[in-house]
Amino acid sequence: MNPTKPAAQASGEEAVRSGRDTLSIVDNRTGKKYEVLITDGTIRAMDLRQIKVGEADFGLMNYDPAFTNTALCRSRITYIDGDAGILRYRGYPIEELAERSTYLETAYLILHGELPVRAQLEEWTYHVTHHTFIHESIKKFLEGFHYDAHPMGMMISTIAALSTFYPDAKHIFDAESRRKQTWRLIGKMPTLAAFAYRHSLGMPYAYPHHDLSYTGNFLNMLFKTTELKYRPNATLERALDVLFILHADHEQNCSANAMRNVGSSHVDPYSAAAAATAALYGPLHGGANEQVLRMLMEIGSIERVPEYIQRVKAGERKLMGFGHRIYKNYDPRARIIKRRAEEVFEVMGRNPLLDIALECERIALEDEYFVKRRLYPNVDFYTGLIYQSMGFPVTMFPVLFAIPRMAGWIAQWEEMLLDPEQKIARPRQIYLGPDQRAYIPIEQRG
Ligand code: ACO
Repeated sequence: MNPTKPAAQASGEEAVRSGRDTLSIVDNRTGKKYEVLITDGTIRAMDLRQIKVGEADFGLMNYDPAFTNTALCRSRITYIDGDAGILRYRGYPIEELAERSTYLETAYLILHGELPVRAQLEEWTYHVTHHTFIHESIKKFLEGFHYDAHPMGMMISTIAALSTFYPDAKHIFDAESRRKQTWRLIGKMPTLAAFAYRHSLGMPYAYPHHDLSYTGNFLNMLFKTTELKYRPNATLERALDVLFILHADHEQNCSANAMRNVGSSHVDPYSAAAAATAALYGPLHGGANEQVLRMLMEIGSIERVPEYIQRVKAGERKLMGFGHRIYKNYDPRARIIKRRAEEVFEVMGRNPLLDIALECERIALEDEYFVKRRLYPNVDFYTGLIYQSMGFPVTMFPVLFAIPRMAGWIAQWEEMLLDPEQKIARPRQIYLGPDQRAYIPIEQRG
């Protein structure tokens, strides 16, 4: 390559010669023309840096608050076509996985790239199941929380605390260590969640049972009382398993980005996962399912739905569980959940809030405000109704999202770590603050 030429310009010219895709940019400030390579429908932001008005110029940057049009990575994990309403893990449609797979098998697929053969699944299930116990000292952390502490706050803290119990986790470039932390994180999430729940009720903790399924054991740790052996209801166990499959990954969402971003500093996976859990807690992300239920309770009756929709259109409120950065069509997960809800209601009785939700959806799907903005129900719109019917308090809803998302977070983190193009994530800024000024002693300040 000619060293006097900027890399992008040189690669652009090469590309033009070889007939590859390029973008021509004319800088109207200088009249200079640049050729930038287009690969996979993207240009490299660093290729813009050569565009300068003079030697002292830093070079052109792209400004993209909230990353609405920036690809952060090349990924092979999850594919979403938001316009068509398509979601696939490692190429497998979410509908097929929800119908035929289990959460642990799907988690294996997301993490390893392929569906396991029987022996691999047995080994994987064995290891995850045998890492469900938590150190007794973790219980002391939980005991420090108020009875009304939000369980997501307890989750964030206890996930972060795990890093202090497993110092080997800092060996992030050791595949064996990563494998072990993966078993631990996926295995312990239901235990931490169930213990946080029982803490808020003041109930004694119920320990994991190794001969139950992942979700069966979770229900056991949540709801076991005096029975010698807890037997989960098969419909509820399967419904929860399907919900876990649907929540296992969703490419570069806010919490996955937090996992990658924090993980890019090469911190241990527990600390990065605590950050991802914190990101999920927010009401615009995993906290939305909790907000949906609160909204439905606030609306209170079908008759009051039109009035609420008017308030949404006036900008006073949001219709929680509607809209998505990527899906501009019905969220495929919401469609599956709506069907599963009926099965849960058959066992637990119909949730009276369902009719309010259905009326919100009916009005919104016909209303110009929502149609024009392409706002459809997202995954959170119906999950809360199922969770409530299963006996979960609303504060547990985001926790039920965090448990299965651990598989996706770890897969995203590992992909980031092993990607030679990735470095510590560090965006740029456009500085708009004051220019240099002299310090003024306090007596002289006006
Ligand atoms: N209710 C009413 N109006 C909405 C809603 C909503 N739920 N969502 C978006 N809009 C409006 C916005 O006000 C905006 O209108 P404008 O163009 O007149 O200003 C327009 O639709 C575009 O919305 P943005 O906020 O620009 O969309 P963005 O992609 O930034 O936000 C988000 C996506 C955060 C999910 C948003 O739709 C929202 O807040 N929804 C409610 C919260 C929710 O359900 N979150 C869960 C998302 S799924 C998940 O994380 C698992």
